[in-house]
Amino acid sequence: MVAEIALIDITPGLAESVALDLNHASGITRSRSHASGGTDLTLVRDAQVVVVTAGRPRTPGMSRADLLEINRRVIRTIAEAIRTNAPKAIVIVITNPLDEMTTEMLRASGFSRNQVLGMAGTLDSSRFRRALAESAGVCVTDVEAITLGSHGDEMVPIVSRARIRSRPLTDFLSEDAIQDCVQDAVSGGGQVVALRKTGSAIFAPAHAVIEVIDHIRGLRVGTVPVSVMLDGEYGNEGVVLGVPCHLGMQGLVQVEELPLTDDELVQLQKAADAMRSRLGA
Ligand code: LAC
Repeated sequence: MVAEIALIDITPGLAESVALDLNHASGITRSRSHASGGTDLTLVRDAQVVVVTAGRPRTPGMSRADLLEINRRVIRTIAEAIRTNAPKAIVIVITNPLDEMTTEMLRASGFSRNQVLGMAGTLDSSRFRRALAESAGVCVTDVEAITLGSHGDEMVPIVSRARIRSRPLTDFLSEDAIQDCVQDAVSGGGQVVALRKTGSAIFAPAHAVIEVIDHIRGLRVGTVPVSVMLDGEYGNEGVVLGVPCHLGMQGLVQVEELPLTDDELVQLQKAADAMRSRLGA
C-alpha cells in the first residue's frame, strides 16, 4: 500500500517504537514498506496522504464536542506543518469532534476542499452494517448501508437505501429493530470509550481509513461516505458534512447527491445547522 510510512507522536519514543515494531514484522510479511517515527512534525515532508489522529481522546461521558477547543489548537499546529512540508497532501482527519476538526484543518491549512477529508461516515457505516447483520442474523457481506451527516448525535444512518440481500430492511427487521441498529451505529464509538476508559476505538477506525485510502488510490470504485466541505450539494454551502463521495488521487472528485427521503433530508439539514451553530458560523 505504501513505500514509506512516517509515524508522529508527541510522546518521545512512542512513534519510533511502533515504527520499529512494524519494521520487525517485515521479515515475515516480506513487506517492502519502511516505517519511521518521531516527534518532529517535519516528518510529514512530501507525504501524499496525511492521516491526522492527534488530539485528546474522549474519556467516558465526554461528548466529541467537549473536545472542540482543546483539539482545535492541535489541528492548527498540524495544519501549519502540513502546509509547509506537504502542500500537495490529501489530509484525512480523524481527530474529534470530527466534522469541526475537518473544518479547522481546511481553514488553517488553506487547502482546497478536495484535499481535506474527514473520516467518519466510513466507520459509522461499518458499525451500522454490522448492527444490521447481527440483528437480522445474516452475514455482514449481505448488508449494504451507509450513514451520512455528522460523526456524533446528528449522524444520519440512511435506512431508506439500506438493503439486506438486496431487499429493504423491513423484509428482515421490525421498525423497532431497525431503530435499535441506528442507535447502535450512533453510539458505537461511545460504547468503545465506555469500555476502554482511556482512549477510543482503534481497529474499526483504522480499517475505515484504509477503505478511504483504497478509494483514493483507485482500488475501490463507487462512493464512500466522507466528511467534506459542501459547495451547494444537499442544499448546503460552507459547512462540512458526511456525504457520499467519489475519491481519486486528488482527493475529492465529486459529491454524489443520492435521492433520500424527506425525513432523511431534514435530518441532514439538522446536522448541517448544528455544525454551523457549534462553529458560530
Ligand atoms: C469513534 C471515534 C474514532 O467513533 O470517533 O470510534
